[in-house]
Amino acid sequence: MYFPSLILLATTALAAPLIQRDAASILQAITNIENHITTLNNTLNTFNGNLLTTIPTVLKIEEQTAELGDAISAATDAANLSPALSETDSGTVATAVVTLVPKIQSLLSNIIAHKNTFDRAVLGIGSVSPQVEQDLQTQSKLSDEFSGALIAKLAPDYAALAPLITNQISAAFQNAVKIFATSGGLFHLPAVQGLGEFEELLKNFLHLR
Ligand SMILES: *[C@@H]1O[C@H](CO)[C@@H](O)[C@H](O)[C@H]1NC(C)=O
Repeated sequence: MYFPSLILLATTALAAPLIQRDAASILQAITNIENHITTLNNTLNTFNGNLLTTIPTVLKIEEQTAELGDAISAATDAANLSPALSETDSGTVATAVVTLVPKIQSLLSNIIAHKNTFDRAVLGIGSVSPQVEQDLQTQSKLSDEFSGALIAKLAPDYAALAPLITNQISAAFQNAVKIFATSGGLFHLPAVQGLGEFEELLKNFLHLR
């Protein structure tokens, strides 16, 4: 009998808890962060050490990095303004963060992959790399603030698990900062840590619920 099940489906859809406005604004802020990550990553992919384009590209990277920082700050504001999230909304937001983490890791490994190009990009009196290091420190701080603000609003079960995820973001930033703190020359491109078991843990946790 298709008809009754269709009605059931429609009823279920209507009865499904709508995401609260504040969870929705956090989710939108996370999507906005992802868009800025993609934009910056695309610019990085055009950064090839070509002398004619170095200056405009570095300036573009600086500008887009600042915009990414603003997007992270906006997400922190959205989390701070939100009331405590329900279990359902906490699950939705936690899942969005799990999706965000590999994108941050991917962006950071792309920045690291361009370390030699940053080292050689000399603007004014020195290499651009120290500026990149400073930017990474700033972004790292902003993302820690976002994690803190978000965890404070998650339902207790999710809040307990969340640091396992957000610590991966901090670790990836610290790794990138460390690499940019070393002056030019040879450096190891470290394997960016995957979420691995933490992601599995969260996925299982979400499925169990
Ligand atoms: C960044 O660009 C690299 C190289 O094209 C790509 O492999 C990676 O998936 C991109 N990452 C993001 C977050 O867009």
